[in-house]
Amino acid sequence: MDELKELFEQGKWYHCFRYEGLLSNGAYDIETYIPHYGFENDYAGKTVLDVGSSDGYFSIWMKEHGASRVCAVDSNKYDGSLAIQASNFNLKNYEQKYAQYVDDYSRFRSVYERFGLNNSNKLLLMAKLKSLEVEFQNGTVYDLKPFGEFDLVMCNDLLEHLRDPITAIEQLYFAAKEKCVIAVSSAMKTNWFNRNKPLLTYQGHISGGSFYSLSEAAVIAMCKAAGFRDARVVSRFDMENRTHRVANPHFVVHAFK
Ligand SMILES: C[S@@+](CC[C@H](N)C(=O)[O-])C[C@H]1O[C@@H](n2cnc3c(N)ncnc32)[C@H](O)[C@@H]1O
Repeated sequence: MDELKELFEQGKWYHCFRYEGLLSNGAYDIETYIPHYGFENDYAGKTVLDVGSSDGYFSIWMKEHGASRVCAVDSNKYDGSLAIQASNFNLKNYEQKYAQYVDDYSRFRSVYERFGLNNSNKLLLMAKLKSLEVEFQNGTVYDLKPFGEFDLVMCNDLLEHLRDPITAIEQLYFAAKEKCVIAVSSAMKTNWFNRNKPLLTYQGHISGGSFYSLSEAAVIAMCKAAGFRDARVVSRFDMENRTHRVANPHFVVHAFK
């Protein structure tokens, strides 16, 4: 238990998880913000795809709320290779960041091995700890065909990191049977003047791994172009990054087939 406590407190986490009095040292405490995503209370019998799942807070939440099948897809291989298409100027920073997943595994290997894991994938660790069946697939939002179709598809805080958000939204459309929930972290969304204009601002030269700031109208227009019959903004909120102590503005879109 001491080792697990150390892993929760000192490991490399993206999401905060609460487990038997422990709190993982994640950058984002999604629990606080769940009401903003407009989820149902019960997903009994529903299949869910979580694209860009990271530590898998949303996948675990869906399974705990009744989903019959949850498939999490992320490009992170947990072997130190880059999971994100960074700008060249920022490559070194990202290489260092992704090396931390390997360091985390070396440091807490005995915990991971105890749960039959051979890398530091926190989604799989949390699923084991909570005895939940959640699938993890290494893959990309640019090709979701191998994973099939799901009642609900989620893609949270990924579009802004992509060089090609249009292809990504088209793939979400093909993977969704009913509905897609898309959360976007974007500097532009708080700006009421630009909110309703279909704008993208290139910011890759500043952030290196976050290519575009997308307006709400841009995401809605892309959803409609991809084929969704309706798409609407259901919430706007600021989410605190606990590591950098900054509030990141977010909006959530629900897109319907
Ligand atoms: C900013 S995190 C968001 C995590 C989570 N969805 C959330 O909202 O808290 C983006 C995640 O997308 C993954 N990712 C980056 N590019 C991807 C791609 N092309 N396909 C699938 N996942 C990708 C990253 O590895 C990372 O785990």
